[in-house]
Amino acid sequence: MSISGTGSVDTAVFTVGGLGTRFLPATKALPKEMLPVVDKPLIQYAVEEAKEAGIEYFVFVTGRGKTAIEDHFDAHPYLETALTDRGKHDLAETINGDRPEPGHLVYVRQAEPLGLGHAVWCARKVVGNRPFALFLPDDLIRGNNGPCIGELIDVHAEHGGNVLSVMEVDREATSQYGIVDSEPGSKDVMRIRRVVEKPSPADAPSRYAIIGRYVLDPTVFDHLATATRGAGNEIQLTDAIESMIPTTPLHGVVLNGRRYDCGTKVGYIEANVALGLERSDLAQDVERVVRDALDRHTSLGRVR
Ligand code: G1P
Repeated sequence: MSISGTGSVDTAVFTVGGLGTRFLPATKALPKEMLPVVDKPLIQYAVEEAKEAGIEYFVFVTGRGKTAIEDHFDAHPYLETALTDRGKHDLAETINGDRPEPGHLVYVRQAEPLGLGHAVWCARKVVGNRPFALFLPDDLIRGNNGPCIGELIDVHAEHGGNVLSVMEVDREATSQYGIVDSEPGSKDVMRIRRVVEKPSPADAPSRYAIIGRYVLDPTVFDHLATATRGAGNEIQLTDAIESMIPTTPLHGVVLNGRRYDCGTKVGYIEANVALGLERSDLAQDVERVVRDALDRHTSLGRVR
């Protein structure tokens, strides 16, 4: 039941099964991927990034309580008619405009929260034997030169194998990420010789962390099939990628852009402010309210 397509990487997997406990109570009944950044749900930014890079097929690895995501990418004829009848054509276009084609979206359920590696493995029958893009939608990424995943697809076209987006993080933060060890001399595109999931700062081989964009060779599914539990007692994608290094080239592409970690409250707030400031219809007002809030905060003598 593999999807067939034409481009070199035309399929993307989105892992959207997480419980979103960091955003409770907001995520009690709402998937965290549906939390809005300005006026679009987080998941839509990832799908738009994928489309911009030429991805045509969208595979969501979901879980219980996530049906709002399916509804979001479905048609809503009643709402469209209501908007059109009221002359709100722009809004009708917003909810209808760039929906993926019928039959290009697939939802598979992870059923058990056994980790990112397990979530990716759940997509194996849909992806089949072809390279694919992987998005962790908590990471909202604004590339300086077009979509971040597009740069990874270009590097994959040149080198094949696995390609990861990486960025420098503080040494104290290494225990929150997969960390890479690259060959000396590499700069924007690095050849990686080791990856380790969530090392302590003392054990981290570098400060380059994997962020939520990958292009993966389909043989990753074989490695995930036999994977044992790693960090956090979960089946880790990083461990499967590490086990492929002897047979499969692995490259890191240093992020050229900005990443907002919408898996954390502060990153989510930062994304709303930053993307609000990107919008010509909102920038002036957003700037004013942020400045006012800061002034009030300072005048009340609160710690900054
Ligand atoms: C996952 C990956 C990790 C990566 C991170 C990026 O971790 O396992 O290697 O650095 O995403 O956000 P998680 O954030 O799911 O714990």
